[in-house]
Amino acid sequence: MSAVSRLFASQQFILGAAVEDFERAFAAEVGCAHAVGMSSGTDAQLAILMALGIGAGDAVITTPYTFFATAGCIHRMGAEPVFVDVEEASLNMDPARLAEYLAGCAKAEDGTPLTRRGRRIRAIAPVHLFGMCCRMDEIAGIAESYGLAVTEDAAQAVGAAYRGERGVVPAGAIAESAWFSFFPTKNLGGAGDGGMAVCRDESFAERLRMVRNHGMEKRYYHRQVGGNFRLDALQAAVIHAKLPHLGEWNAGRRRHAASYRKAFSAVGLTEFVTPPVAPPADFESAHIYHQFVIRAKDRDALMVHLQQEGIGCAIYYPVPLHLQECFADLGYRTGDFPVAERASAETVALPIFPELTEAELEAVVAAISGFYFR
Ligand SMILES: Cc1ncc(COP(=O)(O)O)c(C=O)c1O
Repeated sequence: MSAVSRLFASQQFILGAAVEDFERAFAAEVGCAHAVGMSSGTDAQLAILMALGIGAGDAVITTPYTFFATAGCIHRMGAEPVFVDVEEASLNMDPARLAEYLAGCAKAEDGTPLTRRGRRIRAIAPVHLFGMCCRMDEIAGIAESYGLAVTEDAAQAVGAAYRGERGVVPAGAIAESAWFSFFPTKNLGGAGDGGMAVCRDESFAERLRMVRNHGMEKRYYHRQVGGNFRLDALQAAVIHAKLPHLGEWNAGRRRHAASYRKAFSAVGLTEFVTPPVAPPADFESAHIYHQFVIRAKDRDALMVHLQQEGIGCAIYYPVPLHLQECFADLGYRTGDFPVAERASAETVALPIFPELTEAELEAVVAAISGFYFR
């Protein structure tokens, strides 16, 4: 509240010191050279796609098992969203499916892979779903061999880490650029919408700053069509005040995940529910459990039971993106991505906020037991 009061006293509501201070602190926290505050995760992605110059005639590869914005932004740029299936265990992009898809693509004269509709594939957008990083080394290797950019959807992964060829690297600092979301339900949530685009390259950061402000370099001189993608100074002040707590909050999420796993085994639930894939014991920071998503037998009936017991639960995501009505013209069909389709039918997210108490967690497990051991 004191940060908010200071902001009101300053009357600097658009950009200015509060946004710049937060951008610096956030860049340091996630180990990125540059951070540019954006009005949402969605707008951060749009700004990155604009800065990459992606538009009509282009295509970007992502997965069908993510929040809508990942593919929606690609489509809004006039480009074609291309989907490859996810891995069974992590539900992240499967590098084997990515390699297989690209190997089957025709190529333009300059070697750029082409989609079936002849769009030029320019980039890959892997999503660190539920707070765990994708197999980024494998994805980067494939991208390099086809000359594609990699941009990370790190909306759900603030504070997660990846262990690869370059050692341990925070989510968002693995590829050349990435975006984050500060939607209030995120692990670093604002008091409203907010997002961040991050990148390695100084000139790319300049372009991001330009496109977030209608492509303006000098006032009322527009080099490129951008948007109003600016992060509110008020949000910057709020999220900046929360940032020092991120580590402790993520640790709380990890503790709860471990308690769920232990409890499922202790009460004999493992034949009915499968917890999410666990990171290696010596590298727990690989997962920040933005969501704790289990696979459950008879999922829909279990959810009705949990709701009756007053326990919050949700499906992330009930309809994979290739089957969404608005993407019908892309020509995908049921059966195209069986792993994502099965996940949509079997997964349910359980409560996992840092403040969850042991008693509340036990109540969740007791309610699940009550359903299967009726
Ligand atoms: C994976 C993923 N990508 C993108 C977004 C978009 O972020 P926002 O809601 O801040 O626009 C979200 C969050 O909602 C998300 O979970």
